[in-house]
Amino acid sequence: MKNTVATFQQMKEKGEKITMLTAYDYSTAKLMDECGVNGILIGDSLGMVMMGYEDTLSVTMEDMIHHSACVARGAKNALIVADMPFMSYQTGVRDAVYNAGRLMKEGRANCVKLEGGAQVCEQIKAITDASIPVMAHLGLTPQSINAFGGNKVQGKSEEAAKKILEDAYKVQEAGAFAVTLECVPEKLATLISEKLTIPTIGIGAGAGCDGQVLVYQDALAIFSDFTPKFVKKFADVGALMREGISAYIEETKAGTFPAQEHTFKIEDEVIEKLY
Ligand code: KIV
Repeated sequence: MKNTVATFQQMKEKGEKITMLTAYDYSTAKLMDECGVNGILIGDSLGMVMMGYEDTLSVTMEDMIHHSACVARGAKNALIVADMPFMSYQTGVRDAVYNAGRLMKEGRANCVKLEGGAQVCEQIKAITDASIPVMAHLGLTPQSINAFGGNKVQGKSEEAAKKILEDAYKVQEAGAFAVTLECVPEKLATLISEKLTIPTIGIGAGAGCDGQVLVYQDALAIFSDFTPKFVKKFADVGALMREGISAYIEETKAGTFPAQEHTFKIEDEVIEKLY
C-alpha cells in the first residue's frame, strides 16, 4: 500500500517506527520498495555518494530532478521525499515554490525536504499552501557546513538546544508534515519527538525519534570515504561487490567467462558459409 504523509502521521500516533533510506536510482529504489521501507529520500547527499563532491553544495535542481524521477519509477509504495538543493529555496519564497513544484512535476516526488528552522518558515508555509508537503530538517543541516565550520553535533548547549526545540515548533506551525533531526543529542531529539505532534525522523539522533533515515551506501558499507559515528553497517555489500567484481575480472582474463550457457547458438551450416 502507498505510504503517504497521512501514513506517517498515523504511524506516529500509533507509536509505530517509520523507516526511511536514501536512494538515487531505479534499481535500488525498487529493491527497497520490495523490502517495505516506508519512505525513500532522494537526499542531496547524492553529491557525495553518487557524484564524488566533498559536500552537498554543488548539487543542482537538475541533479535532484533526474535522480528523483529514477527513484519514483522504481518505488511504488514508499513515500518519495526529494531534497531541495542549496540555493533552490534560500533565495526567496517564489524560488522555493517554483523549485518544489519542479521536484513534484518533473521529479515525481510526493513531497520535498528543506533545511532550516525559523529562517525558512515563510518558504515552508508557501510550499505547503501550494499543496506540496514539506519535511523540515534541523540540527546538523549539511547545506550550512561553512556557517557551522564543519559537520558537528548540534544542540549541546542550553541555548543551542532551546533554539532547535523552538525551530521544531516553528516548522510544525508553518505546516511541515515531519522533521528530520540530524546529529543532535539523543535526549534532545526524544524531547522534541514527545513535544511535537508531527513525526520526527532521526539520523544520528537516537532511538527516541518517531523514525530513522540512513544513507544506504553508509548502511550497506558501500561508501568508504568517511563513516559518521551514528552509522550502523547492516551488511557489508561493499565487500560483496569487491568479491564479485574481482571474480568477474579473474574469470574474464582466464577465458572461463562467458561459459557455454551464456552464449547464443547459430547453425553450423550458416557459419561455415561465412568462412
Ligand atoms: O541528503 C541526505 O541524505 C539527508 C539525510 C542525511 C537526512 O538529508
